[in-house]
Amino acid sequence: MTINLVINNQPVSAPEGSTVLEAAKRAGIEIPTLCHHPDLTDIGACRMCVVSIDGARGVQTACTTPARDGMVVDTMSDEAVTSRKVTLELILADHPNDCMTCEADGQCELQDLVYDYQVAWPEHSGRRHHYEIDPDPNPFIFIDRNKCILCGRCVRACAEIQNRDVWTFANRGFDTVLVAGADQFMLDADCESCGQCVTYCPVGALWDKMSMGKGRLSQVEKVRTTCSYCGVGCNFDLNVRNNEIVRVTAAADAPVNGLSLCVKGHYGYDYVHHPDRLTRPLVRAKWLDDAALHENLERGAWEAVSEAEKRRSMLTWQRHHSDQSEIRNSKFEISPDTFIRTDWDTALDVVAHKFTKTKKQYGGDAFALMASAKCTNEENYIFNKFTRQMLATHSIDHCARL
Ligand code: SF4
Ligand code: SF4
Ligand code: SF4
Ligand code: FES
Repeated sequence: MTINLVINNQPVSAPEGSTVLEAAKRAGIEIPTLCHHPDLTDIGACRMCVVSIDGARGVQTACTTPARDGMVVDTMSDEAVTSRKVTLELILADHPNDCMTCEADGQCELQDLVYDYQVAWPEHSGRRHHYEIDPDPNPFIFIDRNKCILCGRCVRACAEIQNRDVWTFANRGFDTVLVAGADQFMLDADCESCGQCVTYCPVGALWDKMSMGKGRLSQVEKVRTTCSYCGVGCNFDLNVRNNEIVRVTAAADAPVNGLSLCVKGHYGYDYVHHPDRLTRPLVRAKWLDDAALHENLERGAWEAVSEAEKRRSMLTWQRHHSDQSEIRNSKFEISPDTFIRTDWDTALDVVAHKFTKTKKQYGGDAFALMASAKCTNEENYIFNKFTRQMLATHSIDHCARL
């Protein structure tokens, strides 16, 4: 059923059960919020969304007040605006004044509201909290409780989306403070380091530790991509600065996952720039044609990998001048098992040749293939076809069944 109300002298229709905030949003009327997030249960904690409603005493929180048929709402009444300003002043009265160096600068919901309502940072000699900055050894989540505005979005994101219930509030009044578990370290309170709480924090109180000092919103380019870790196919934005990924941020319009990410998608991106990363195929010297091996090493098209097979560091190769039949460099000799960094055509030819030879000699049942949850459905489908039709075996399984 639809209800009809008036907001800021504008007739508004909304489905029954909507809050005043939702009804206003449908009509394109913006009401400021801090503790509200559309993915989370509303708790009416911050009182930024207060509005005046005809017949109601004082101002009401739009995020928790149900819209009713015939209601008349003023979102910008003097009382509502004054109330928001006072709320912001009270928040700032116990908030650091370091937007200049804060990671959240430029994407801080508090900063935007303070700007919109032109509230000055209050100088006063009363108490301000001085919590230890980044006191938690969690390798991924940075915490600055001095910037926490006690909105509870992290608490609800962790409980309602991630189902971990790590965060809660301890104490009362001015001493109210965000704690993990029973005031423990996050990992001891069953945190799985998904970073959901960071994503939902409206200010710089929770941040991605790996990204500290590497680039704020205005300094990065966001590139939408699909996670490479599993077949769920979560989308997120790579935050790129000077051609380096400095952060991963969730994207509300990601079709599969919305703002939800796991620890791998959120924080497992450092492999991209890791010097040990394999970017070209490694083929053991014994599988390569001798002449091609010599020629390609000589002209530098291929490279041999030494005990760096273990250390994974690359050595530059030179032909031994005195013995043309051996390939040496100053540090080691190529053995049949030495890895050669080749090119994809060569590596795939080696694999195809060995598949063909093995099938001819022993039949398709000599193979057993394992599909991966890291691949897409389409890739696994092709893998299945390849196994049954090309290799002629039904010996195929999937890691998810193990
Ligand atoms: S959290 Fe927001 S308001 Fe606070 S210092 Fe950072 S940018 Fe400024
Ligand atoms: S990182 Fe994830 S599991 Fe840990 S506290 Fe934040 S939301 Fe909860
Ligand atoms: S850490 Fe952030 S999300 Fe959590 S209560 Fe504080 S301000 Fe809100
Ligand atoms: S947004 Fe409504 S009380 Fe915080």
